[in-house]
Amino acid sequence: MWISEQLLYLLVRAVYRTDVCQDREMKEAERDIDKYDEYRAGRIDHILEAAGRYGVPMEGRAILDFGCGNGIATGQYLQKGASSVIGVDVNGQSIERAKELYGSESVRFIQSGSVEIPLEDQSVDTVVSYDVFEHVGQPDLILDELYRVLRPNGKVLIGTFGWRHPFAPHLYATMPVPWAHCVFSEKTILRACRRVYLSPWYVATHHDMDSAGNKKPDKYRMDEIPLDYVNKLLLRDFDSLFQASKFQHETYPIPFSSKWARWTRVFLGVPWLREYITAYIWVVLNKTAAD
Ligand SMILES: C[S@@+](CC[C@H](N)C(=O)[O-])C[C@H]1O[C@@H](n2cnc3c(N)ncnc32)[C@H](O)[C@@H]1O
Repeated sequence: MWISEQLLYLLVRAVYRTDVCQDREMKEAERDIDKYDEYRAGRIDHILEAAGRYGVPMEGRAILDFGCGNGIATGQYLQKGASSVIGVDVNGQSIERAKELYGSESVRFIQSGSVEIPLEDQSVDTVVSYDVFEHVGQPDLILDELYRVLRPNGKVLIGTFGWRHPFAPHLYATMPVPWAHCVFSEKTILRACRRVYLSPWYVATHHDMDSAGNKKPDKYRMDEIPLDYVNKLLLRDFDSLFQASKFQHETYPIPFSSKWARWTRVFLGVPWLREYITAYIWVVLNKTAAD
């Protein structure tokens, strides 16, 4: 066993029961898929608040929820005044669950390709994409697709975060040590995750279970965090991506909300530092009428 792996394992052990990475509510949600759906549904207010703050219209609009996952938030746009709503996601299982639980005449769910969005040109008014863009493999092509399906004057609201975020590898349950991926190699991280996963004190999440309800034997047999899971884009890569797209764009960084938030906001202006201390970014893309 490597010293770095042992050190990281001990760090996980030290913070595992704290809320450094996830608070109690999030941990409980992670342990049961229905609770997880409920938790995700609770994010809708957060999304609508951002939409209101940044001038992204929802009322009376045809909305596309891009990367809708299990679809629990999708239908809620209708209750908040959207005229119609379509959820698309590349994951067929999620789309099936979404259709079964939340599908209706006015809330449609469609499986997309890794890039292709199976919708007509200029068929939606507003796109919302929450916690998705850090995952997509070909975000430049996705932006072209979003541009195509959006009507002129339409807007896209993207909520995402960069690869220097303390928990960017999305290994929340097994690697709750902030910025571990900035210090340790991915190989070390995955070896430590594997040990954590197999430890008797580790509490399995719903992601760890197979369809029969049994804990999957071993999830971390790889040397790198796969790029089809998280794309590892830095905030500056997102800047370049949006800059190169056909959209006009504005980015709104959110610093960590803690007693230090006032100070972290001051440091958001320092390019390399902002990569580490930005909790989230909201990006508004605008398809101008002239296009
Ligand atoms: C963290 S989940 C967020 C789900 C949902 N937006 C929510 O807030 O509950 C990320 C979702 O993005 C989807 N996704 C990743 N790459 C995608 C792609 N290229 N096209 C469409 N969806 C994609 C995943 O399948 C997953 O459901």
